[in-house]
Amino acid sequence: MIQAIGVIGSGTMGNGIAQTFAQHGFDVRLVDVSAPALDKAKATIDKSLTKFVDKGALSAADRDATLARLHFSGSIDHLADVDYIVEAIVERRDAKRDLFAKLDALVRPDVVLSSNTSSISITDIAAATTRPEQVLGMHFMNPVPLMTLVELIRGQSTSDASMELAESLCTRLGKTGVPASDYPGFIANRILMPMINEAVFALMEGVGTAEAIDSVMKLGMNHPMGPLTLADFIGLDVCVAILDVLHEGLGDPKYRACPLLRRMVAAGHLGRKSGRGFYRYA
Ligand code: CAA
Repeated sequence: MIQAIGVIGSGTMGNGIAQTFAQHGFDVRLVDVSAPALDKAKATIDKSLTKFVDKGALSAADRDATLARLHFSGSIDHLADVDYIVEAIVERRDAKRDLFAKLDALVRPDVVLSSNTSSISITDIAAATTRPEQVLGMHFMNPVPLMTLVELIRGQSTSDASMELAESLCTRLGKTGVPASDYPGFIANRILMPMINEAVFALMEGVGTAEAIDSVMKLGMNHPMGPLTLADFIGLDVCVAILDVLHEGLGDPKYRACPLLRRMVAAGHLGRKSGRGFYRYA
């Protein structure tokens, strides 16, 4: 029975993943090398849980119990006896391979190592370990506490048992695990990013204003956010990085990032996190 979860990386995705596991009764150790990042994660989790309490979706006692199940640490050495790993560090191949090699030497041989990567090959990460059959992708969606999808990515060597375990964990989290093969962008970003990119081309070519483009997709297609608002929410630098992975990995020019998207990233207009993207944020 999986009970103790190690989450590495306390950024937007990592803290949401840690919170969600803790809310569903797991003991969670959240690790980050940056102490300020851990402090920020604590505050974000506290705020999110308080929102659920205010809405009546969580009792104050459950919030306190959730917080008590969360432990924060600056070193992966505290993960030696966990039952399952979710990695959510920076989207850099070398950093992930290096971490997975260390985790492979640290945790029990039966432990499955998962990555929340949105675009790096699971097969490539798994090859840095001696247990590639126990490595898979567990790609959560932002905001993690609210979104019910988890893409489960099967690498070249991932075993059926590892996939089944990840799927059962998704069920325990009240989420749905959907299997995907290890190709660039998997399913979610292969479909989402070309839509966002096309919206940026439409803006660049003056087909419509940002507001018009977002309104068409919100009101006409019932998307909860228009594509440009969503791009600001994801981060324009992240969108460019994922488009580059699709372009390079699939070789089709249809995935080339729109020049306007690149120009905005070059200007530091990264979306919500920098206070300015297609829209301005206070
Ligand atoms: N924790 C707890 N509650 C939260 C929250 C969080 N982290 N974030 C938002 N909420 C709550 C809000 O407080 C709000 O509560 P009320 O209804 O009581 O007011 C509720 O959720 C709805 O939020 P908002 O009113 O602010 O906005 P909304 O109605 O637009 O909903 C949303 C927000 C759920 C994010 C919705 O806009 C949505 O589904 N957007 C699309 C998100 C999406 O596409 N995510 C995938 C991104 S792609 C990705 O993650 C993968 C990748 O690799 C890039």
